Amino acid sequence: MTVLDVGCGAGFASLGLARLVGEEGLVIAADLQPRMLNFVKERAIREGLSNRIHIHLCSHDRIGLQEELDFTVAFFMLHEVPDIQVFLKEINSLLKPGGRFFITEPKIHVGLIAFNEMMRKAEDVGFEIAEKPRVRFGRTVLLSKSE
Ligand SMILES: C[S@@+](CC[C@H](N)C(=O)[O-])C[C@H]1O[C@@H](n2cnc3c(N)ncnc32)[C@H](O)[C@@H]1O
Repeated sequence: MTVLDVGCGAGFASLGLARLVGEEGLVIAADLQPRMLNFVKERAIREGLSNRIHIHLCSHDRIGLQEELDFTVAFFMLHEVPDIQVFLKEINSLLKPGGRFFITEPKIHVGLIAFNEMMRKAEDVGFEIAEKPRVRFGRTVLLSKSE
């Protein structure tokens, strides 16, 4: 699988995802802070995973990838994005049909009304809600791009 960890920060999820995708897979760890991407790069080298983790520098308003994705993770980052609808639309365009998008937001920063509004925007750009998994301290949804 080709997996995007968008807003990867120091790469906690990216490293775990790199183990899950195996030797044939690829994780793209993307963030707008070069400092965070350097952390991810160093940790990937230390843990012997650098061949399956690529780092990618985003701009504030565009992810800017060419790859087709099977799965995307946005862990505790969506509330930081300036235009959520534009961002969701770009993720939707990068995913293959049937691709999945896992979003979790911190309850402390994102109330239920704001989270429901995010899900409504996701449906507006062509996602379906596949599941609402439980994540500790999080408001979470697994979205699916129509086939
Ligand atoms: C709260 S941190 C979470 C980091 C990581 N996902 C984790 O759970 O440890 C949010 C991260 O999202 C990044 N970020 C915010 N807006 C972004 C955007 N528009 N595109 C890419 N990354 C963004 C920030 O630079 C930061 O590293």
